[in-house]
Amino acid sequence: MEKPKKTFKEHVLAIQKRYRNLEAKEGFENTKELEAYTLFRTPATEAALKKVFSHLEGKTFKTALELGCGPGSSYPHLKDLFVEKIVYIEKEEGFRREMEGVTWMTRNFLDDFLYPPSDLVLFSYSLGELSNKEQIDTLFRAIEATKDTIVILEPGTMHGYESLLRARDFLIQNNFFIHAPCFHTKECPKKGKGWCHFSVRVERSRVHRQIKGGTLGYEDEKYCFVIASKKPENKNCFTILDTPKVEKHRIRLNLCTPDGEKIFECKAHNRELFKSLKKKGWGEMVSSGILSGVDDYKNDQV
Ligand SMILES: C[S@@+](CC[C@H](N)C(=O)[O-])C[C@H]1O[C@@H](n2cnc3c(N)ncnc32)[C@H](O)[C@@H]1O
Repeated sequence: MEKPKKTFKEHVLAIQKRYRNLEAKEGFENTKELEAYTLFRTPATEAALKKVFSHLEGKTFKTALELGCGPGSSYPHLKDLFVEKIVYIEKEEGFRREMEGVTWMTRNFLDDFLYPPSDLVLFSYSLGELSNKEQIDTLFRAIEATKDTIVILEPGTMHGYESLLRARDFLIQNNFFIHAPCFHTKECPKKGKGWCHFSVRVERSRVHRQIKGGTLGYEDEKYCFVIASKKPENKNCFTILDTPKVEKHRIRLNLCTPDGEKIFECKAHNRELFKSLKKKGWGEMVSSGILSGVDDYKNDQV
């Protein structure tokens, strides 16, 4: 007897289960799953990509390569960076679509071939699907292909962070400079204490609400990322690592600094700074210069 066809919800749940169990490597079952993935995941992926790519604002790249591009959610963000030629490498033929300026290669990027040299190389939610050894081998080949910048985005889970940390360490060993979210190449201050990640609010569509069963009109996509470049960028900034604690009389920020994770405290009498810090959120940057002027700077190691 023929097996009953899965519903859209069942496809989504099957994909989610594989991701939760770190079994994404098994791939997609059929084209219905590809459609379910595209519809269900694209809004969150795009929102996270938008946040990550905001760190590259003002830069331009002529060529880009994405390894494991899925349905090509990165396309508008790459176009915002004025990329003229994009190469998408994806093993699932069903994701392939016509897009201006895109060369689509349906192939397994673990196979032995040279990645096309590109100004920017992107891994968006794909590096973590590989074994630890494959991650490093693939990254090595990506480094060889990169003329300028590598961007890696992963889910904001412990597994995603561990993949990122491995990649960050390897990029630093290979003389890359870290441009975001940290502005230093010292050890990640979160290592061994938690995981560095950020969050972006995504509006839930009707389809999402049906599947999640809840009534909330939004969800928070947790992600972690690294942007590394062959060129240094001297930004004297610290990144805010958690939601700032804003009270009537003080603001406390948990910051990523080259000397580790530190708490900075600004009291309300420091009016101008208090006002500007009040507008800052998790994942945003503050200039290290501004903070050196705060008399009530706390040098606590968290
Ligand atoms: C979680 S999806 C992310 C898709 C897309 N980058 C995005 O952000 O929406 C990971 C994609 O990487 C692809 N992928 C994983 N390993 C691959 C490999 N070895 N060769 C080619 N594609 C691969 C998968 O088929 C899948 O489409």
